[in-house]
Amino acid sequence: MDHYWLRSTVAEAVEKRAAAQDPWELYVVGSIVGVDPPRRVLEIGSASCGALWFWAQIADYRAQVASIDVSHHDVHEENLTDMPENQKLYMHLGDSRDERSRFDVQIFFGGEPIDFLFIDGDHSYEVSKSDYLMYEQLVRPGGWIGFHDVQSSYVEDGGSYRLWQELRHQFPRDHVQVQLRPEGGMGIGMLRKR
Ligand SMILES: C[S@@+](CC[C@H](N)C(=O)[O-])C[C@H]1O[C@@H](n2cnc3c(N)ncnc32)[C@H](O)[C@@H]1O
Repeated sequence: MDHYWLRSTVAEAVEKRAAAQDPWELYVVGSIVGVDPPRRVLEIGSASCGALWFWAQIADYRAQVASIDVSHHDVHEENLTDMPENQKLYMHLGDSRDERSRFDVQIFFGGEPIDFLFIDGDHSYEVSKSDYLMYEQLVRPGGWIGFHDVQSSYVEDGGSYRLWQELRHQFPRDHVQVQLRPEGGMGIGMLRKR
């Protein structure tokens, strides 16, 4: 991957398309996931779609990219311009905990497994764990699962932090914690599915 391109794509996602991510963390995650560009990507919690736009840029040019969000954010359209033209995009409006949400994204992916799942919806322990348990089943062995806000001090109730502590101990050899600036970013946990 061209690192000048990656750096400018991160800058565009964060500065122009409102990705709610620390640029350095997004850069590292982009470097990890972009080594083998994913064909199927799912983000839970897309808000203004800046990060979703970024995942689409680093994904395979024919990728299927899906999002689940409980609310509709008006800026979707302007942040989702210049998407790779051969990709397919599916925006599911609904609660990630509903079976219907999972079912609909499975239909979109044609029953094929996901290469990269990014969990950034409700950050309570109960919901982030439910997102993990419901959707990790759809990820292929060797695929990546990212968790945003795994650094305790930046998260309201520490739910994502608590879940991440459990998972990083459960899978000591299969995770990377991306947290480059203790004072700045919110931390992204990256788990490689066995
Ligand atoms: C922190 S924002 C996501 C930021 C986005 N990933 C980015 O990097 O720009 C969290 C999003 O999760 C959504 N959300 C919260 N609870 C949810 C749930 N139970 N199911 C689906 N989406 C949810 C919210 O509507 C909000 O848009």
